[in-house]
Amino acid sequence: MPAAIVTSDLTKRFPGVTAVDRLTFEVHAGEIFGLVGPDGAGKTTTLRILAGVLTPDAGSATVAGYDIVHDPEAAKAHVSYMPQRFGLYEDLTVEENIRFYADLFGVARSEREPRAHRLLDGAGMSPFTNRLAGKLSGGMKQKLGLVCALIHHPRVILLDEPTNGVDPVSRRDFWRILYSLLDEGIAILMSTSYLDEAERCHRVALVHQGRMLFSDTPAGLKTHLRGAVVSIDAPDPRRIRAELDGAAGVLNALLVGDGVHLVVDDAERRIPELRAVLQRAGMAFDRVEEVTPTIEDLFVAATGESHE
Ligand SMILES: Nc1ncnc2c1ncn2[C@@H]1O[C@H](COP(=O)(O)OP(=O)(O)OP(=O)(O)O)[C@@H](O)[C@H]1O
Ligand SMILES: [Mg+2]
Repeated sequence: MPAAIVTSDLTKRFPGVTAVDRLTFEVHAGEIFGLVGPDGAGKTTTLRILAGVLTPDAGSATVAGYDIVHDPEAAKAHVSYMPQRFGLYEDLTVEENIRFYADLFGVARSEREPRAHRLLDGAGMSPFTNRLAGKLSGGMKQKLGLVCALIHHPRVILLDEPTNGVDPVSRRDFWRILYSLLDEGIAILMSTSYLDEAERCHRVALVHQGRMLFSDTPAGLKTHLRGAVVSIDAPDPRRIRAELDGAAGVLNALLVGDGVHLVVDDAERRIPELRAVLQRAGMAFDRVEEVTPTIEDLFVAATGESHE
């Protein structure tokens, strides 16, 4: 059986920009695959192609085994797509929205009730079934969108930045629902610009300007970094970064929380040198140590751009 999603050199051009540039990847049943990248990386375009909303200019893709160009209707029957702005009816209640989507997808009445129950429960939304969708918080709206998108048992679900702007509690619920679906053998492809969220996916592809930088498990990704990451905690990380950016052996410098992450060629050799530079400059700092790279470190090292 082919993977749930297979793309091969998938390409989409718009005037003046190649939004998706020869993307090749597979997503398997029971897997959460993250498309991770900054604004304009081509995430939405990729998802829209797989949802059958856009046609690719080159390359190919199958979804649930159906070719999206030659057999789009068959592919669409097995896919659910939750766009960045999912179309909830704000003047309908939670329950009415679910009923609307269940009707749209032709879900039998006997099936929809237990499924809606289970999904709403998982979302922590059972007490709110009679609330108007327009009166829900941002996180609740996203969770309701997910419930609606899942009401018909799709084999593949495409989620475009589903947790963008969602509070941490709702984000946790959201992930719990996603994990609970994996037993059904669903394949989940989601985009995110939260690099920390990438850690929760089984595998991720880091994309930048339409191209894939790396694809691996979150742990495997970190082995792609050439060099090592040195973390420096300091009261004024900005000054530290300004001082050390461009120092010998420092390839990149990134502000993180209350410190700085430096990608260096050789941690053992550079740590004493970096300390000496800071001491000479009279700058206060606390710990200086080698740390496991984050996905953000990898991204910055690969693109030379910092990621907001
Ligand atoms: N319909 C369109 N017409 C012209 N250019 C487009 C169109 N859709 C997307 N683009 C361009 O293609 C590139 C990729 O856009 P896309 O929306 O896929 O990125 P994204 O990764 O989803 O970004 P974001 O984080 O902002 O949602 C961008 O340069 C964008 O301006
Ligand atoms: Mg987008």
